[in-house]
Amino acid sequence: MKTLNRTANFYDVIRERRSVRLYDPSVKITKEEIKELLGEAILAPSGTNLNPWRFMVFTEPAIKEKLLPMASGQQQVVDASAVIVVLGDMNAYTVENADKINQRAVDAGYMPEEIKDRINNSVQDYYGSVSEQIKKEWQMLDGGLVAMQLMLAAKARGYDTVPMLGYNIEEFRKEFNVPEKLVNILMIAVGKAREPGFPSVRLGVDEVTYWNGNL
Ligand SMILES: Cc1cc2nc3c(=O)[nH]c(=O)nc-3n(C[C@H](O)[C@H](O)[C@H](O)COP(=O)(O)O)c2cc1C
Repeated sequence: MKTLNRTANFYDVIRERRSVRLYDPSVKITKEEIKELLGEAILAPSGTNLNPWRFMVFTEPAIKEKLLPMASGQQQVVDASAVIVVLGDMNAYTVENADKINQRAVDAGYMPEEIKDRINNSVQDYYGSVSEQIKKEWQMLDGGLVAMQLMLAAKARGYDTVPMLGYNIEEFRKEFNVPEKLVNILMIAVGKAREPGFPSVRLGVDEVTYWNGNL
């Protein structure tokens, strides 16, 4: 059954999202709904619209069990309905990928052909000249945006999430034969809370904001 609350209020969603670590293991989310959720997440922006994000989705109990030791026994990886690992494809920064995406924009009537060609020409040499380190930093930015959007979309659908870096990335990559071109960004558990997350505090806006260059 769909849980999407199409009237979910944005302000409620951003205020009520909380990292949830205790999930109801009996709740299943259908593949169809996970695809809808990912479809909402990927409306996030990305640099030059290269869509570098990739997702590994774990829903089978036996395979989620494999995540448990890698995540230092954090039970949410088993009890949550799905664990979604956000990755970034280092091959996204190629003229072929730019062309593939922009051709779709041309076909949809959103982009004139000559703009696509101009972009292809300008990125042709540029991507090759950028270091792998910088490309990884781009991945973290785009991956962070899509991950946040995924968590908010899940909340709007009545699900809870927790973002996780507390897992052994090396072990994860080995276990699932993750190819070198894919970099790990964030693991996100998605499900229904068995117990609500803890309320959390934030530094105040005045503590984290500099106005007009005055640091
Ligand atoms: C990059 C990142 C990594 C995190 N890793 C973990 C984790 O491994 N395990 C966990 O329980 N929470 C993890 N968290 C959740 C944070 O502890 C949580 O977001 C923070 O305490 C604020 O609480 P809130 O999400 O409920 O607002 C992570 C959050 C972020 C953004």
